Amino acid sequence: MQLVVANFKMNKDKKFYQSLKSLNTLNCKDTKVVLCPPFVYTSFVKIKNENIFLGCQDISCENEGRATGQISANMLKEFGVSYAIIGHSERRGFETNQDISKKVKVALYNNIVPIVCVGEVNKGEDESLIIEQVASSISSTDKEIIFAYEPLWAIGSGLIPTKADINKICSVIRKTAKQKKAKIKVLYGGSVNDKNIDLLKTCKVDGFLIGGACLDVNKFKSIIKSVENE
Ligand code: PGA
Repeated sequence: MQLVVANFKMNKDKKFYQSLKSLNTLNCKDTKVVLCPPFVYTSFVKIKNENIFLGCQDISCENEGRATGQISANMLKEFGVSYAIIGHSERRGFETNQDISKKVKVALYNNIVPIVCVGEVNKGEDESLIIEQVASSISSTDKEIIFAYEPLWAIGSGLIPTKADINKICSVIRKTAKQKKAKIKVLYGGSVNDKNIDLLKTCKVDGFLIGGACLDVNKFKSIIKSVENE
């Protein structure tokens, strides 16, 4: 089963999130689709397809208490959220590896599947940062964690790594997780679109994290159909 995750970031409006109901008719029997709207629009995304799920773009490190402006995993759970993007590069500037590890723990505790983003900043950098990001975020070995390999230079730039480089880094991520005895899946993210998906789906990955291309529902549907091999 492949996983296609839509990270809508801080885009669009209530009408757009209501319109995502058109995805319900998709035939996605071999693909799980996760929709991650901004928090305020969570309850406007109406899902009626057993392979489409609700996600979010961040969670608090804490379950409750004195954390003004934050939203906890157990609150999101009440709204049907079952996946959480954690440590996206656009957030890593405000959070440490330790915060990210706490968020993974709190997500798993609430039966929310964490999607942890990792990736090098500049093209050609070695894997040490990624190994550290993966190793430090693993806190539990009995529940599955999803990693998204998202090179920062590929996000929103239209550039993508070579297939060989994606396979190499994803295997480094798998090896690091194996040493920690964690069960994981690995996605690729960064400028995935309806044009390059046919190539990218030949990489050894368990799915994709999509940003810009999910803001156009038709393009997003084409990506899902390609992954689904339709
Ligand atoms: P992009 O974003 O697809 O627009 O490059 C991906 C992401 O930031 O998750």
